[in-house]
Amino acid sequence: MKKIGVLTSGGDCAGLNAVIRAVTLRATQTYGWEVYGIHESTHGLVRRPVDAIKLDLSTCTETLLRQGGTVLGTTNKAYSSPEGTQKDITKEIIEGYHLLQLDALIGIGGDGSQAILRKIAQQGNLNLVTIPKTIDDDLSHTEHSIGFMTAVHTATEALDRLQPTAASHNRVMILEVMGRDAGHIALSAGIAGGADVILIPEIPYKMEAVAKKILSLQEEGRNFALVVVSEAVEMESGQKAHITDHAGKRRYGGISYYLADRITELTGAETRSTVLGHVQRGGEPIFQDRVLASVFGVHAVDLIAQGKFDRMVAWKNRTVVDVPIQEAIEGYQAVDAKGILVKTARGLRISFGDEKL
Ligand code: F6P
Repeated sequence: MKKIGVLTSGGDCAGLNAVIRAVTLRATQTYGWEVYGIHESTHGLVRRPVDAIKLDLSTCTETLLRQGGTVLGTTNKAYSSPEGTQKDITKEIIEGYHLLQLDALIGIGGDGSQAILRKIAQQGNLNLVTIPKTIDDDLSHTEHSIGFMTAVHTATEALDRLQPTAASHNRVMILEVMGRDAGHIALSAGIAGGADVILIPEIPYKMEAVAKKILSLQEEGRNFALVVVSEAVEMESGQKAHITDHAGKRRYGGISYYLADRITELTGAETRSTVLGHVQRGGEPIFQDRVLASVFGVHAVDLIAQGKFDRMVAWKNRTVVDVPIQEAIEGYQAVDAKGILVKTARGLRISFGDEKL
């Protein structure tokens, strides 16, 4: 009988619990293995006794599939000690894996977490399989990662709510969405939510072109406009808008406030900004994420059964495949500025702020 571990690492998103459920069901029910859910990513492996919980049919409750967040907890600091110090914890992580007597580990994470987990696995000769998750959807070699589609759904719903209030007050509404350096959420939500302007980091914009689009809508008799902007879009100076927290750490945020002022200056329109933030990460996964999570969880366990390690499960051409982890983390999936979604948006008269003046 095999013993496998599963952990979630990096920022949470909708669908993580559905993956944990799928891994547990497949491993315990098909193969008769034991599954350990490790708490707070690598931190659970560093703590003594090792901080993990046995997962079985009884933990796969009727709510797990639907539940947001991750029941195992997570951290953005998989390489720091649980106390937050910078000391190298690789040795303790490897030791924790052996203390649990694991035969393999499934790591659910984005590119950063997967890179850390792979480095540790290589050093300790651990059997690792990874599952891609990130609302940013910027991992290469997979058409989608867990959490993205729910984030887009939430952003689309926000546009559905902003449109009537925009129309009631003759306003330009700007919705700022996450995505770190990729514009996937803004692009898909903008199309689905009927945006007039979509600004993403992959397509440089001119403020005058944005203003021209809004003025042309006014000329047509439209009394409102919807703008979606990705958090990493630059201001005209070339700088990105940041928030600095109490520890001096900078995070993206606030580009929508900058744009609101500039739009009002150039068009005279009354403008309001909404920063959607972590609402995009929480909440119940929509059906697409539940299906993807289930497919990925089952396939990851099957890879272990076949003795295939150092692989990331991926979605390609309507089926599940697996690729070397290294290849997946080396690549990056930005929005294709010439791709079908950008073309479609242009076909719907959506401006990217890059049109000729
Ligand atoms: O990578 C996922 C993500 O949600 C980004 O879209 C966003 O910029 C970042 O994480 C926010 O991180 P944190 O939860 O640390 O504020």
